[in-house]
Amino acid sequence: MLRGRHKFLPSDDVLLLLSTLLTAIICRGSSDDGLVMAALAKATNPLGWTGPDFCKWDGVACDTPNKVSSINLASKSLSGKLPPELNQLSSLKTLSLQRNKFSGPLPALSNMASLQEVNLEDNGFTSIPPGFLSGLTSLQFFSINNNSNLPPWTMPSTIKDSPSLATFYASKANMVGEIPDIFRSLPNFANLKLSYNNLTGWMPWSFAKSGIQSLMLNNQMLGLSGPIDILGEMHSLREVWIQSNQFSGSISDLSACTELSDLQLRDNRLTGVIPDSLTKLPKLTNVALQGNVFQGPVPSFPPGIQVNLGKENHFCNPGPGPCSPQVTVLLEIAASMYYPIVLAEAWEGNDACQEWQFVTCEKGSVVVINFSKQNFMGGISRSYASLPSLRSLYLNDNKLVGVIPKSLTSLKQLQILDISNNNISGKVPSFQSTVILKTDGNPFIGKVVPVTYPGGRRPPGVELEETESSLAKWVKVVVILICLVIIAGLAWLIYRWFYKKQKHRWFKKISEEHSTISMEQTTDYGKSTNVSSFNQSPMKSSEISDYNIYDGGNVIIPIEALRKATNNFSKNSILGKGGFGIVYKGELPDGTKIAVKRMESSMISDKGLSEFKAEIEVLTSVRHRNLVSLHGFCNNGSEKLLVYEYMPQGSLCQHLFEWKEMGTPPLTWNQRVNIALDVARGVEYLHSMANQSFIHRDLKPSNILIGDDMRAKVCDFGLVKQAPDTNQSFETRLAGTFGYLAPEYAATGKVTVKVDVYAFGVVLMEIITGRKSLDSSLPDDSSHLVKWFRPFLQGKDKIKEAVDPVLRSDLNEETFESLWKVAELAGHCTREANQRPDMSHVVTVLSSLVEQWKPAADEDSFRVDIGMRLSQVLQKWKLNEDSSSTIATDYIKQKQPPQ
Ligand SMILES: Nc1ncnc2c1ncn2[C@@H]1O[C@H](COP(=O)(O)OP(=O)(O)O)[C@@H](O)[C@H]1O
Ligand SMILES: *[C@@H]1O[C@H](CO)[C@@H](O)[C@H](O)[C@H]1NC(C)=O
Ligand SMILES: *[C@@H]1O[C@H](CO)[C@@H](O)[C@H](O)[C@H]1NC(C)=O
Ligand SMILES: *[C@@H]1O[C@H](CO)[C@@H](O)[C@H](O)[C@H]1NC(C)=O
Ligand SMILES: *[C@@H]1O[C@H](CO)[C@@H](O)[C@H](O)[C@H]1NC(C)=O
Repeated sequence: MLRGRHKFLPSDDVLLLLSTLLTAIICRGSSDDGLVMAALAKATNPLGWTGPDFCKWDGVACDTPNKVSSINLASKSLSGKLPPELNQLSSLKTLSLQRNKFSGPLPALSNMASLQEVNLEDNGFTSIPPGFLSGLTSLQFFSINNNSNLPPWTMPSTIKDSPSLATFYASKANMVGEIPDIFRSLPNFANLKLSYNNLTGWMPWSFAKSGIQSLMLNNQMLGLSGPIDILGEMHSLREVWIQSNQFSGSISDLSACTELSDLQLRDNRLTGVIPDSLTKLPKLTNVALQGNVFQGPVPSFPPGIQVNLGKENHFCNPGPGPCSPQVTVLLEIAASMYYPIVLAEAWEGNDACQEWQFVTCEKGSVVVINFSKQNFMGGISRSYASLPSLRSLYLNDNKLVGVIPKSLTSLKQLQILDISNNNISGKVPSFQSTVILKTDGNPFIGKVVPVTYPGGRRPPGVELEETESSLAKWVKVVVILICLVIIAGLAWLIYRWFYKKQKHRWFKKISEEHSTISMEQTTDYGKSTNVSSFNQSPMKSSEISDYNIYDGGNVIIPIEALRKATNNFSKNSILGKGGFGIVYKGELPDGTKIAVKRMESSMISDKGLSEFKAEIEVLTSVRHRNLVSLHGFCNNGSEKLLVYEYMPQGSLCQHLFEWKEMGTPPLTWNQRVNIALDVARGVEYLHSMANQSFIHRDLKPSNILIGDDMRAKVCDFGLVKQAPDTNQSFETRLAGTFGYLAPEYAATGKVTVKVDVYAFGVVLMEIITGRKSLDSSLPDDSSHLVKWFRPFLQGKDKIKEAVDPVLRSDLNEETFESLWKVAELAGHCTREANQRPDMSHVVTVLSSLVEQWKPAADEDSFRVDIGMRLSQVLQKWKLNEDSSSTIATDYIKQKQPPQ
């Protein structure tokens, strides 16, 4: 383009251009800005821009070297055409070309992502390039005021892509057409000035709720039109200049425009009564109302406000003061039809009987109103009923909608009511038989339909359409609700029935294989299954009814039975205290020993309940010889109890750390390895359940219980989580016990089965050393067992120092070899999560250290059954998951060892 042009340039210009070009190319390498600036230099030659560095040219600024950020040529008396490639200045933020005599095409302002401010005021541009003002994503300020040589153009709706735009000025810029409805996309928009153009149409809907403060649309040639109600919804307005247009209708309630100070409404076609809210605006200083056809009382503004009411308005009195009652009523009627301009123009003064068009009086009272064929919009006002002498009311051949107000039946003198050829709907109230009612030409008359008023604006004084339609809606809602309740009820019944069946099967298994509590099924529906199907139970039938209620898949044991079994929860029966309550020892009438965990009433909160539920859910679905089994539970109002098989030798905690107090011999190494293996098998089972796996999350010696054979079972499943996949992690709130928390779990809350492996490693260390995972009685650096233990893993000799002192006598070659292996395993289990072994590996290692392991025959048969049940349990469980995970942080506080 450049090359094509400079053939025709005078030689001086060619030289200048070439030198600038060369310097641009040589000094600045490939910088595009150099070329553009050279072209601009040529176009604005009078500035005498020379020199290699355009960043130093007068009026040019660069934020970064060689990238023009600002061009300021304001008031330089420049003329001529601007180079079209100006939009290649990719870093340009400010372009100030105002007050010159530029002509030709406007600069092609498009896709300049940095451009923030553009001022083209007071120039003589003559054409608009395509895409002008599109893709200016940073634009904040734009002015093109006083460019009257432009061809007629419309405000481009592409400026909605400039979300930061606050100001758009284009007065005297030859704009035509409508103002685009784009202001909802411009959250920062504040100033719009489009005065002295030829804009037409209504103010766009998106003005409502916009942040526009300054609105100047005055002096359009043909004139903007339509109502101005929208001003009442523009709560940021400060100045409104819409004078000299064709706006019509009345001033709406402006009480929300509390910032408004300057309101120029003169020379429009505005009508209606000036609302009181206008006179009460707190910041108002300037109001121009002249040149309209306002009606009603003269508004009385507080002193200090500059008001121009003019002489053209049709106020009822020359000065402030109310209109006569009849005029007031007629104005209310006008209001119900949006104050049509014909009425405003025809009704002047304070006496309706003084030659007012459309009304006929007798003895000073209106007796006939003839609004026929006026194209009036709106509805039928209730205020007609306030004209007691009214005999004839002609509303035919208009565009009225809505209903006939009931109050019209109170007009004693009424003889004719003609509403034909409108769009009146709803029930026709019962008029006296003497009234001639003409309703033809209203397709919805007698029918209850929702009414749509023009522009969605229901005028004042019209009656709401019959509520029957909304009544019908209510009926519908109620019917739907009833249906939902019925469906929910049915679903519940099916659920109950389904689980009853499941329970039946499951229960049979328990009674057969564990000879524990026996149950009979009694249901809420009056049927009861005889207990004889459980006749392997050792329980006598007379006792059966005490125990056998069944609900939602779990075994319920009555509170009375548990009271009896635990000697009314006597202190002597206490086995231990857990996070959620006290554990009691008990004995059922058949001699079965049980452990009863009684939730403390203070713990009966959501988290406590969900842990309670979780424990029931897990224990009824997982069963393994190394997991403590649940006999049943009791959920009796505030009493929440879990009933377990009794583990006569208490917890591993007691055997490792409190054996002296308990008066039991310390555990031998062989016992310890066996216990570790039992625990590993229990946890391995949890981890490898069917397709899904469970994570215990709270493995520790107090949750490992010992039977009379000194074999161990894992208990306390309140925190068990279902893992979606063995290798996948998922986030939960932290729960567990300090000292056993895997570091990655404590840090991120991400829980995998490896969390249990870590805790198991800690338990192994405790088994080896006889030391608690956290011992606050020791100095800080050795109080944390995992940290303290690690150095002893450096060699077999080292480890001897860490071994539980009570074991030392027990150690020979063979046991020491075994101990070393366990110590190494403990080390592996407490490494980084990805280096920790699986529980199955742990089981393999430990079982190699125990010769006389006998696999349990019943395990596999269980697994199949459980796998099936599990999916059902999980389904239920998922529903509870959110609530159960909230146990979390509070739980940990309770489990925290005392400081
Ligand atoms: N089934 C049981 N048989 C014997 N003793 C039990 C049984 N369950 C719990 N205990 C005793 O009660 C204590 C607390 O149990 P639990 O509520 O599981 O503890 P926590 O909530 O702290 O994990 C255990 O450490 C143990 O001594
Ligand atoms: C409009 O711009 C012209 C230059 O194009 C200038 O002479 C004139 O004074 C400006 N008018 C107003 C009202 O600013
Ligand atoms: C204003 O615009 C209308 C079209 O909207 C056009 O007919 C009319 O001629 C324009 N008036 C002037 C003075 O440009
Ligand atoms: C009512 O006004 C219309 C139009 O102004 C006229 O045609 C009609 O005759 C009038 N009706 C009566 C009853 O005066
Ligand atoms: C008449 O009113 C009904 C109900 O308000 C509306 O659905 C229908 O569109 C209107 N018809 C006309 C021609 O305005």
